[in-house]
Amino acid sequence: MTAAFDVERVLAELTLEEKAALTSGSDFWHTDGVERLGVPQVMVTDGPHGLRKQAESADHLGIGNSVPATCFPPAAALASTWDVDLLDRVGRALGRETRGNEVAVLLGPGVNMKRSPLCGRNFEYFSEDPALAGDLGAALVSGIQSEGVGTSLKHFAANNQETDRMRASSDVDERTLREIYFPAFERVVKQAQPWTVMCSYNKINGTYASQDHWLLTEVLRDEWGFEGLVVSDWGAVVDRVAAVAAGLDLEMPATGGRTDALVVDAVKNGQLDEAVLDTAVRRVLAMIAKAQPALAEPGPIDVEAHHALAREAAADGSVLLKNAVVGDAPVLPLSASAAADAVVIGEFARTPRYQGAGSSQVNPTRLDDALTALRSATGTDLAFAAGFSVAGVEGSQDADDSALLAEAVETARGAGTVLLFLGLPAPDESEGYDRTHLDLPANQLAVLRAVAEVNDRVVVVLANGSAVAVEWQDAAAAVLETWLGGQAGGSAVADLLLGVRNPSGKLAETIPHRVEDTPAFGNFPGDNGHVRYGEGVLIGYRWYDTRLVDVAYPFGHGLSYTTFGYSDVAATVSGEGASSAVEVTVTVTNTGDRAGAETVQVYVGDPEAAVLRPTRELKAFAKVTLEPGESRTLTFALDARDLSYWHPGLRRWAVGGGRTVVEVGASSRDIRGTAEVTVTGEALYGTLTPDSTVNEWLAHPRGAELLGAAFGEATAALDPTMLAMMGDMPMRVVASFGVGGFDLAGLDALVERAAA
Ligand code: BGC
Repeated sequence: MTAAFDVERVLAELTLEEKAALTSGSDFWHTDGVERLGVPQVMVTDGPHGLRKQAESADHLGIGNSVPATCFPPAAALASTWDVDLLDRVGRALGRETRGNEVAVLLGPGVNMKRSPLCGRNFEYFSEDPALAGDLGAALVSGIQSEGVGTSLKHFAANNQETDRMRASSDVDERTLREIYFPAFERVVKQAQPWTVMCSYNKINGTYASQDHWLLTEVLRDEWGFEGLVVSDWGAVVDRVAAVAAGLDLEMPATGGRTDALVVDAVKNGQLDEAVLDTAVRRVLAMIAKAQPALAEPGPIDVEAHHALAREAAADGSVLLKNAVVGDAPVLPLSASAAADAVVIGEFARTPRYQGAGSSQVNPTRLDDALTALRSATGTDLAFAAGFSVAGVEGSQDADDSALLAEAVETARGAGTVLLFLGLPAPDESEGYDRTHLDLPANQLAVLRAVAEVNDRVVVVLANGSAVAVEWQDAAAAVLETWLGGQAGGSAVADLLLGVRNPSGKLAETIPHRVEDTPAFGNFPGDNGHVRYGEGVLIGYRWYDTRLVDVAYPFGHGLSYTTFGYSDVAATVSGEGASSAVEVTVTVTNTGDRAGAETVQVYVGDPEAAVLRPTRELKAFAKVTLEPGESRTLTFALDARDLSYWHPGLRRWAVGGGRTVVEVGASSRDIRGTAEVTVTGEALYGTLTPDSTVNEWLAHPRGAELLGAAFGEATAALDPTMLAMMGDMPMRVVASFGVGGFDLAGLDALVERAAA
């Protein structure tokens, strides 16, 4: 056992060379240590939905083998649970595995926004909505860190694609960063204080994230109060000296001493203040010290319990998109007799697609497939046909598709129900590159169409890490989106199909009809080193709902085997301006005949805002489990920030006020109740200058008064059209025209009086 050390005492005794070494890795996965002062090395490792601790060969893209660890469902599925308590429990289990393997920091979670469904790494990210991603990310971080190990919140920031990820500049206006791309990070930092934040590879508006002082110091630390250390993504440091000056504390992985020498030189020649380096060293030492108690007592790992938890999470993260009535009842859940009379088709039922590729790839402790799970749960040797070949699956990828299709049709003919497992082949979704289309492979869709010709009870079970187009869905009586279910996904699917569990997942990302409908289309993935975030704040449902674009399934959608009623939606406002608050209440009732869980979503709209705001934005949500007939009244407290937009001119959050629409619903397109309140906005005006427009002068209480007096009767003489035309004229232009005998010298005097 290594005794924890005194950070300040160690710092005082370090040489400059040791300081430089401590702020970079010692190899691929370890920080450096200082033996003579009792500072040990610690290990950090991926992340995020399971531990990827490599035994020997080190790499960051999942090529080398890693120790067995529970593969929980990746974030795409976890997010669809909308369940902060469950994420906290998954976090605790991840924390125990991290600790049990003597690792100090698990490199996750990733809370980047799903700007486009094409992003190759969407399976590792939570949502297109920052409030949802932030609250779920915070729950996961708290859970992991409750075990005495750390997390790394990544990839900060505006890293929303894989194409050219190590160089491209995400060109985003500040309001969009503040309202869309930052808040998930901000929520996690404020709610859970991750031990580390990982800066991304990309540039933001031309500056590498690893060298962005505004990002890493002013926003992250000064504004949000982040107390931990900033680590680079692996290889994200371009100029180490500039990075340290910007607020980067730890460069990973090791560079063999090359960049340490640059830091030493920079301090010696006065380019880098040693005090700045000391700050980084202090943070690294503090992290190493903090990890020591848990590392000294790794503790046991309950592999069975974690597998059971992975199964629960996979079930609750699956979304029942469609469940049509065939005959006299919905197709799902299958009754005992229907289950015994079902057939299973699709390679994915026997060879599960359960996680994505790249640095997050976990070596699971075991792996459940749906075919075995269904056979064992029904006690029936259900017929199976592979149906199609799958790229990347050994023994399948070169199989004869027409023979497989013919066999599938024969298997489906006369069967009670067809359980058809479709999905994206693993090579379609990975870290390092993006998808180019939203479609399932043609050989799979051919099987769906052929099978649907001979059987009208086709249940499609989907496995994919990010949205796929579902224009084929008329051929399916039911569609269950399982995302990527982790190592217990196969059993979880059986639980849902057979009704052992009631589906309660809801979409954390919209399923669009076509890639051409998606918000970033035309601006994704950019070119020539630039990605223009031209859609601004309108990402995900903010885009579809504001622009009235039809979608296949809206954000927040998800069916259950029971039904829920919403009543008595009410909202009351208190306070005003920057202290405004709104309390929302709603009563939810389980109106069906079995127990189930519903996620209630609260959206806010600000139709009178001075800037374009999305029609609705998610501000709060809660998941409640209700017995048949049971009702619960829920209360949501919205604060001023929930009512604000980022004012681009004043560069701060602003409550514009006026009519505020509160909507409570079961999805962004299934609003069950609306309440309107009137919020008293803040006085929003900046300092008046000669360049301020007539309208800006008139909106300013002192400016309006001064202008009225200066123009006197001249204003009254102007007709409304003339006034409207002048509204956007800078006052310097008005003065230079000499309107109403008013000149530039007079304007300077007015500016002075306005400031007084
Ligand atoms: C990924 C990170 C990961 C790191 C270490 C990088 O390429 O972007 O998410 O934590 O490698 O494997």
